[in-house]
Amino acid sequence: MQSNQQKKRKIIVTAGLPYANGSIHIGHLVEYIQTDIFVRYHKLVGNECVYICGDDTHGTPVMISARNAGVTPEEMIKRVHQEHSKDFADFYVNFDNFYTTHSEENREFSEFIYSKMKEKDLILETQIEQLFCEHDKMFLPDRFIKGACPKCKAPDQYGDSCDSCSATYAVTEVIEPYCSLCKTKPVIKKSTHYFFRLSKMADKLRAWIGEDHLQPEVANKLAEWFKDGLRDWDISRDAPYFGFKIPGSEDKYFYVWLDAPVGYMASLKNWAVRNGRTFEQMWQDKDTEIYHFIGKDILYFHTLFWPAMLMTAGFKTPDNVFIHGMLKVDNEKMSKSKGTFINAKTYLKYLNPEYLRYYYASKLGSGIEDINLSVKDFLYKVNSELVGNITNIASRVAGMLNKSFDGVIGAMDEDGSALYDKCVAAAPQIGGFYEGREFSQAVSAVIKLADDVNKYVDNKKPWALLKENAGECHKVLSSVLNCFKNFMIYLKPVLPKYVADAEAILGVASLEWRDIQKPLEGHKINEFKPLAVRIEQEKIDGMISESKESQKTFKTEVKAAEKKAADEKGSKASGGKVEGVLAASEITIEDFQKVDLRVATVVAADDVEGADKLLRLTVSVGGVTKNIFAGIKSHYKKEDLVGKLVVVVNNLKPRKMKFGMSEGMVIAASIGEKMALLTPMSPVEDGAKIS
Ligand code: 2FM
Ligand code: ZN
Repeated sequence: MQSNQQKKRKIIVTAGLPYANGSIHIGHLVEYIQTDIFVRYHKLVGNECVYICGDDTHGTPVMISARNAGVTPEEMIKRVHQEHSKDFADFYVNFDNFYTTHSEENREFSEFIYSKMKEKDLILETQIEQLFCEHDKMFLPDRFIKGACPKCKAPDQYGDSCDSCSATYAVTEVIEPYCSLCKTKPVIKKSTHYFFRLSKMADKLRAWIGEDHLQPEVANKLAEWFKDGLRDWDISRDAPYFGFKIPGSEDKYFYVWLDAPVGYMASLKNWAVRNGRTFEQMWQDKDTEIYHFIGKDILYFHTLFWPAMLMTAGFKTPDNVFIHGMLKVDNEKMSKSKGTFINAKTYLKYLNPEYLRYYYASKLGSGIEDINLSVKDFLYKVNSELVGNITNIASRVAGMLNKSFDGVIGAMDEDGSALYDKCVAAAPQIGGFYEGREFSQAVSAVIKLADDVNKYVDNKKPWALLKENAGECHKVLSSVLNCFKNFMIYLKPVLPKYVADAEAILGVASLEWRDIQKPLEGHKINEFKPLAVRIEQEKIDGMISESKESQKTFKTEVKAAEKKAADEKGSKASGGKVEGVLAASEITIEDFQKVDLRVATVVAADDVEGADKLLRLTVSVGGVTKNIFAGIKSHYKKEDLVGKLVVVVNNLKPRKMKFGMSEGMVIAASIGEKMALLTPMSPVEDGAKIS
């Protein structure tokens, strides 16, 4: 534990910058929550700790996503920034600055680092051959090329790896490559690229690694890379590209991975000037500790390229790069079709964000192994530990204290005092667990103490004591609440909102680590309000089925977009491309004509028992009445639907659902969480054919 004499540490902590073309999901949240817990712990003990992040905004995928959405990249990154900021805030991820790589600070730092690279003769200009799409007039990153896998021959694989046999390969090996944006065959074209001569930095990097910064598993991985030899790094990309132009070049841009980590410094600088500090005081102070939290997939960038860039430009290198494993759900990779690829927003519709924080904390250690979210275990930990054990402590005694003792905490009894001392004595160990990122051990240490407190309550039976010996009863309640107060301090980095609510009940100001040693006595508490409730299995089922549904909606959107792109390709129109990774086969006009689309009138709309999201629509299609189940309940009021004209797929084979037969499908457009039923622009008879 930090004593008052100890020097306040100055710590900069970063989490990886999320790409600005996708939503935050529960896999991302492992890292942001892990880092947030670490930062909150340091703030709680009184260190100056700054949590820095921001959106990673540059590169081809962002440019293409914006194009597909029909907006400028600037507009898109602005929207995504708002969305990401909200998602993080909703999970109590409390960045000191959530900035952007598309900023002047970042441009300046990136240009400065590049100028130092040039000055030190670490930039090499070389002509390279790359695949170029003559239709889209751009060089194609590997991920935008598809073709058959050179190893197993599976069709439609990415340009760098095969989903079917997991092989990785050079893009030039792909069989019959095609541009995933427009499906045409790319050509090979030469272009001059700038390479950062990483090979020249090998000795310095080896020395940095030798300074014992890294987790042992990470240091081993690096040793392997050194053995293979460090290859020079291509830091330039040709126009068109969304990013920073390279100074002195005509049409070259910094590769997104050059300016992404520089974004840490830019975000810090932007924070510093708004908080009476300077970048130099923070980053460049030799006593400042700099920690990056990242996933193991981006290790190479953070342990080789990044320190090499910093060294070249005379910036302080990180004191450590903390790697965590990837999230699995029930021991499998998150899967869209299984509904386990859960977006932050979808989760929040069903569950309390602190349940996920608690669960991740209870699983996280300092190692790099993957983290498994087992649904059963999640229910157990939240219901039995957080609700049944911790929350139960307060609910067992706070009400009684209020009712019978005017809510005033008094002295403790002997056993209670001993128990409280035990709860105080745990502080250095629990603090050490947080410092060492052994959060699961911190949580289990608290749970063990809470078990002891619950046992103490069982033994003392304050509800019986109340009649027999009110004075003793008062002491028991007082002891329990003092122990609970310490649990709140211990869990504060994990459960900020829960603890804030508990502080309100306890009637204390924001608790700090040093309050561990200060028992409450002669102190009045407030009315008890439930702090957490059990999770019902249905909530989890709902979340998973919504995640599956949104995947289906997404696929439908993609199909529609692909059709549009195919039409445009046919008519040689440009723009409005579909991201190639999502491309599927074209259909002919004959295929399309097989679908009997009709206008229908909604005659009735009813709830479906046991289905939260479904409505049973009775529609009339030219006098024929049909029963259709539609997942639109959260988007429309039943009464607003009756009498409306909608579009249905009339010849869809009837499907037997749990709730009855569904005899068609209502057509809706959706994006993200928005959904709109399609309806004719002016009234027509129902039964009218759509072609
Ligand atoms: O892998 C990713 O999601 C990257 N956007 C992380 C960047 S971290 C830092 F270097 F900016
Ligand atoms: Zn193309």
